[in-house]
Amino acid sequence: MQVFHTENKIIITCNKRLSPYLQQEVEDLGFKPVRVFQTGVELLGTVTDCIALNLNLRCASQVLYLIKSFKAADPKELYEELLTIEWEQLIDFSGYFSVTSNVNNEHILTPLFANVKVKDAIVDRIKSVKGIRPNSGAEANKTVVHLYWQDSDADIFLDTSGETLAKHSYRKIPGKAPMLEALATSTIMATNWDRKSTFINPMCGSGTLAIEAALLATDKHPGLFRMNYGFMHIMGYDETVFFTERRKLKDKAKKETGFKIIATDISDDAVDIAQKNAKTAGVDHLIEFSVCDFADTPVPEEPGVIMFNPEYGERLGVHTKLEATYKRIGDFMKKDCLGYRGYVFTGNPDLAKVIGLKASRRIEFYNGKLDCRLLEYELYTGSKREPKEV
Ligand SMILES: C[S@@+](CC[C@H](N)C(=O)[O-])C[C@H]1O[C@@H](n2cnc3c(N)ncnc32)[C@H](O)[C@@H]1O
Repeated sequence: MQVFHTENKIIITCNKRLSPYLQQEVEDLGFKPVRVFQTGVELLGTVTDCIALNLNLRCASQVLYLIKSFKAADPKELYEELLTIEWEQLIDFSGYFSVTSNVNNEHILTPLFANVKVKDAIVDRIKSVKGIRPNSGAEANKTVVHLYWQDSDADIFLDTSGETLAKHSYRKIPGKAPMLEALATSTIMATNWDRKSTFINPMCGSGTLAIEAALLATDKHPGLFRMNYGFMHIMGYDETVFFTERRKLKDKAKKETGFKIIATDISDDAVDIAQKNAKTAGVDHLIEFSVCDFADTPVPEEPGVIMFNPEYGERLGVHTKLEATYKRIGDFMKKDCLGYRGYVFTGNPDLAKVIGLKASRRIEFYNGKLDCRLLEYELYTGSKREPKEV
């Protein structure tokens, strides 16, 4: 099975509402999506294409390459169909694999049962051809097979990513309520920040937004931080393809930016963690960190983007302390950030109202299962109108 050179359906998954940003990345790489849906993008390509996608994408979770689509009404039919696939050409009999699934079939009460059926078919097939059975288990750090089974329609994929791409491998210390890296980078893409003007991130926590901004500005891809992917454990893998793509990405990454990225937080610990994470990502020299109340964050005269991700407590209801904080965020943007575009990422619409400025856009996101908004404020100066109060 020549998966490295045969075009087939590729599904790139992402967290809910990140697909517009994923689509943009996929198109920038020269691929043409054939379908975009809430949690992913579909295109045609080879596993060699998947290598480039894994290394380049910032907003994705998994890159799945289709092996076969078939009909299966129940677990028995699923097993029999899977037994016909030449797994011995994909998974080394001395190797290790794991199975993941997304199943909605009346006979399957727990996804673990479907995973066991897939595993049994693969093991039985390889044992019958090679005489030896490969090992399998829950760790997604070698070959990963993914089953997507809805009613009687089944798709079986190679998960060429393995562990999720949505985490960008530099955050060794999470801090309090950190944003998922793929979400953070998508929110920055949603601002249309030009990647060459000031970027300020007060309340930076573990530094995710500032670090992602630095990675975007220097064209440095988080894929460079990882040396293990699912595709490396598929038979026929040629490591020169991976190292060539990696070298290309390394060569184009800029070392410096000609503007400031500023990150502050009131907590010493948070700033310490953020600095360590930035160092791991190799962008600590590009970010000016300081410990202070957000309202004392230095705001350079050359405008750009200022972005907040304050705590938001429960989704509904206003919390007295947070209410005061949100009101002060509005006052700070209005008084000290004129000329900038301001953004607040929050999951609490009641607190958002307290900011007291009229949002020019309310961009929809999810943080995990929580419905969130990235609120945009045009903080006009001089000849333009003053920011509107609600
Ligand atoms: C939700 S967390 C930010 C998480 C961050 N986006 C990340 O990915 O790690 C909010 C941060 O605001 C900080 N904070 C709370 N009140 C503050 C204030 N008055 N001034 C500055 N920072 C504050 C907290 O210390 C916390 O790190």
